[in-house]
Order: sequence, then C-alpha cells, then structure tokens
Amino acid sequence: MSRINLDNSEELMIGNEKFVLFLSEEEIQNRVKQLGEQITKEYEDKVPVFIGLLNGSFLFMADLIKHIALDCEIDFMRLSSYGDAKISSGKVTMVKDLNCNITGRDVIVVEDIVDTGLSISYIEKLMEHHNPSSVKIASLLLKPDSLKYDVKIDYIGFKIPDKFVVGYGLDYAQKFRNLRSIYVLSENGVL
Ligand code: IMP
Repeated sequence: MSRINLDNSEELMIGNEKFVLFLSEEEIQNRVKQLGEQITKEYEDKVPVFIGLLNGSFLFMADLIKHIALDCEIDFMRLSSYGDAKISSGKVTMVKDLNCNITGRDVIVVEDIVDTGLSISYIEKLMEHHNPSSVKIASLLLKPDSLKYDVKIDYIGFKIPDKFVVGYGLDYAQKFRNLRSIYVLSENGVL
C-alpha cells in the first residue's frame, strides 16, 4: 500500500521521477470558478449540455458545473486512452458514446488538457454528425507549443509549457488523478 500527500506538498516522487507543484488547489479552484461564471453569463438564456471527456475531465467537470448558475445537463464520452506512459499513441477511437441527444442543443465539451489537439479535433468531427446548435470547448489546460491540429479552445483554464503534468484528474499510468493540485515533471530539477 502506498500513501500520497494530497495537501499541496511541494514535491512528489513517482518512482525515481521528481514532480514539483505547478498549480495549487487554490489556483485551480479560483480559475474554475471564473470560467464557470463566464460561461454562466454567456449562456444566460440557454440550457447547455456539458460533455465531459473521461477519465481526465471528471474533477474539472464536477467543479465547473458547481459554478454554472443555469439549468444545464451533463453527459460523458470516452475516447481511447493516451496509453500508460507519457507519450500519446497518436490514435483515437471512441470507447463510450453519448447517452443523450444533442441535436439542436448548445454543447460545451469539457476536457482536462489539450496537447496535440487530436482528441478535440476528433470530437468536433463527431459532434458535427449530430447537428448541435453550437459547440464550444472548455479545457482546464492547454499546451500551445504542442498543438498539431487546428482547434479552437473557447475556455482555457491555464496555458502551460510542453511538460508532462499530473493531478486533478490527469494521470500518470492511470494513477494520481486524485491529487488536488497539479504537478509537473521536473527534468534534472529544471521546469
Ligand atoms: P491530445 O489528443 O494530444 O490533445 O491529448 C489529449 C489527452 O492526452 C488528454 O485528454 C490527456 O488524457 C492526455 N495528456 C496530454 N498531455 C498530458 C499530460 O501532460 N499529463 C497527462 N495526460 C496528458
């Protein structure tokens, strides 16, 4: 059994790799609140459907909709996983489809992190087939330097450098999603 410190510790060792605190619980919660308030204003007369991409977005989705002061609905989709390592496989397939009808609806896709943009470009194409009234993308994190696909992210929590991060839903080999803060892999002690 292995214990981890959930309380904003400055460092986290995963095997022999060192991760350092990057975004604290407080910074994340403040930004998520701002995004929720912005979306509430922009969807004032609508009943949006939030579609979370599993597994990574589950905490962001849960916290975000607590700041949506509107009638809204939620659903989840799951694409094939990123793999059990730090490198994307470059392939995407759908593992779990929507359970609701989004035709004519205002959809907000909720993602944990946009890296190359492959997952989001795949989702955008899928959405088109259902003829929603509108589709916007909310991502807690965006790595602008990693983008390889032409995607527009409408609501961005934080733009981050092209480094591997874990915590607050983001995993390393399926673990550490339960961390309340986000940690970045420190290469030779340098961020
Ligand atoms: P994309 O399709 O290349 O944009 O990758 C998006 C997906 O890759 C995210 O939903 C994550 O699951 C995963 N991912 C990308 N970067 C990281 C990271 O730094 N840590 C953990 N997962 C990541």
